[in-house]
Amino acid sequence: MYDGSKIIAGLIVFVGLFTFPFLYNMGKASAKPEPKIDTPVIQQLAEKKCVEPKSFMRAEHMKLLNEWRDSAIRKAKRVYVGAEGKEYTISLQNTCMKCHSNKKKFCDECHNYMAVKPYCWDCHLEPKEKKL
Ligand code: HEC
Ligand code: HEC
Ligand code: HEC
Repeated sequence: MYDGSKIIAGLIVFVGLFTFPFLYNMGKASAKPEPKIDTPVIQQLAEKKCVEPKSFMRAEHMKLLNEWRDSAIRKAKRVYVGAEGKEYTISLQNTCMKCHSNKKKFCDECHNYMAVKPYCWDCHLEPKEKKL
């Protein structure tokens, strides 16, 4: 009794409309983030290492930053000892962002992808970046 071809045509249109936004975004906003570490300070490092191992930094840097802030402000302790015993001055601007001076190509690269917008830069200075 019903017209099978109309149903199929309808399904094709439906699937098309439904998947269009995904296909349209491919290679654009959803391109996988590739944070760059080729900054002048990192290039000078003998070992290309962060304050803690990469996997830890990737997963836990937000918590580490909170710890750094609490340590500096509440305990007035401004020296951080990394897992390998190396000492770092606790400072977002002068330590993290000195190595990661390419905020746009590093921090923002991931954050834009994940749609997180840390409010830190309302107060803390962003590194000055050259226009590429
Ligand atoms: C001495 C220079 C240096 C300092 C200081 C530094 N980093 Fe890093 N960071 C690096 C390098 C080099 C890598 C890449 C490590 C690797 O590939 O093993 C890295 C990796 C990372 C990663 C992982 C990136 C990825 O691709 O997964 C994050 C996140 C990060 N750093 C955030 C921070 C934050 C936040 C701070 C301050 C608490 C900081 N870094 C301080 C040099 C530094
Ligand atoms: C490898 C990808 C990656 C890199 C590189 C990266 N972040 Fe993140 N960052 C994330 C993700 C993912 C989250 C959100 C985690 C969550 O919501 O649990 C986040 C969250 C944060 C937060 C907490 C924000 C909030 O609102 O909860 C801070 C602060 C932060 N990042 C700082 C930095 C800084 C500073 C840098 C550059 C030095 C940096 N991140 C580099 C992936 C990254
Ligand atoms: C309302 C303003 C404000 C915002 C927003 C803010 N901070 Fe801070 N932060 C400060 C002030 C003020 C200090 C104290 C500076 C000092 O005593 O050296 C500080 C100190 C710190 C320190 C330790 C000292 C230093 O020089 O870095 C860390 C780490 C830090 N903040 C991280 C963060 C992170 C990460 C965010 C975002 C999630 C953030 N802050 C957002 C105002 C702010």
